[in-house]
Amino acid sequence: MSRPLTVSDFKELARRRVPKMFFDYADSGSWTEGTYRANEEDFGKIKLRQRVLVDMTNRSLESTMIGQKVAMPVALSPTGLTGMQHADGEILAAQAAEAFGVPFTLSTMSICSIEDVAAATKKPFWFQLYVMRDRAFIENLIERAKAARCSALVLTLDLQILGQRHKDIRNGLSAPPKFTPVSLWHMAIRPGWCLGMLGTKRRTFGNIVGHAKNVSNLSSLSAWTAEQFDPQLSWKDVEWIKERWGGPLILKGILDAEDARQAVDTGADAIIVSNHGGRQLDGAPSSISALPDIVAAVGDRIEVHVDGGIRSGQDVLKALCLGAKGTYIGRPFLYGLGANGREGVASVLEIIRNELDITMALCGKRLIADAGPDMLHKQS
Ligand code: FNR
Repeated sequence: MSRPLTVSDFKELARRRVPKMFFDYADSGSWTEGTYRANEEDFGKIKLRQRVLVDMTNRSLESTMIGQKVAMPVALSPTGLTGMQHADGEILAAQAAEAFGVPFTLSTMSICSIEDVAAATKKPFWFQLYVMRDRAFIENLIERAKAARCSALVLTLDLQILGQRHKDIRNGLSAPPKFTPVSLWHMAIRPGWCLGMLGTKRRTFGNIVGHAKNVSNLSSLSAWTAEQFDPQLSWKDVEWIKERWGGPLILKGILDAEDARQAVDTGADAIIVSNHGGRQLDGAPSSISALPDIVAAVGDRIEVHVDGGIRSGQDVLKALCLGAKGTYIGRPFLYGLGANGREGVASVLEIIRNELDITMALCGKRLIADAGPDMLHKQS
């Protein structure tokens, strides 16, 4: 491929460089993948309003998310196993986000640890937390995030039970992975990826192994994880986390107006309208179609962010027009990372910035803060 110009170009490049087991891990949704597809497709149904002969000089995409300055309102989503798309993946993605001026969110299920990422960056990053049954481990993780000067905690609420992804089961993606001659072959024919992995020590879950009780390797991790996701999680636990954390809190995985109203009562700083990138409840609506009702339900009592299916600057703008204050990209940055490490993530961010800037101008607006429903074509 000559120079990649779009997020889907990077997806194809990642497909060629990352072993199938890990590429599929990113490019999959639960069961029929219907919600995963809808996340992307529903953006296409929203039409923008073209305007002409409006002064388009001095444009700016700068904004804030939870009061923190961002070069554009697009953060990197927390994604597990990012260090398997590319060696030291979380570090490289965090560095790309830092240089660009957008938030990076480190997942609890990352390969590089909180401390690894803190040591490799200068500006604060965000940390995503899964509430596990082992509350002593969670308390310790929160303290580690504070010590690493994380400037927001993103608490994921939509994973009390794990959604099932057929591709992962077929590919033997588990901890430890079930390698077959075919999956080993898929790795062997991707020497760039293999060499990177051989050159790093970071190949396991850095936040967990060696920190959670009795978890010293991938086998003990597997047994631990299987019993750790908590089906009894409740709004009381959110309060418990909020107290212990004491800093900016973002609740991720809200898809329903009633839940959004409840989220407001917790005093959190923001919610992320999200269906986990179509990886949890297959059959749930796309995030972008759920957004307007949620914005209407909470008004300006809490900042509303959205993720799921954003693949371009046009998608970002549509989300902002529908009332989101911030957006997140998951797979797009993973594709950039898998294709070309830190530079790949930087390129994906640059592509989205360029698209967002041009789209905003063609809609007749100079400032991203002015994005609103008046920029949408009324038939959408
Ligand atoms: C995720 N997501 C996720 N969310 C979370 O809170 N913690 C996690 O560890 C993960 N892990 C994860 C891995 C992979 C490979 C993907 C693709 C996604 C969900 C993620 O934060 C976000 O909600 C979606 O990725 C957004 O959708 P798009 O941008 O990928 O379409």
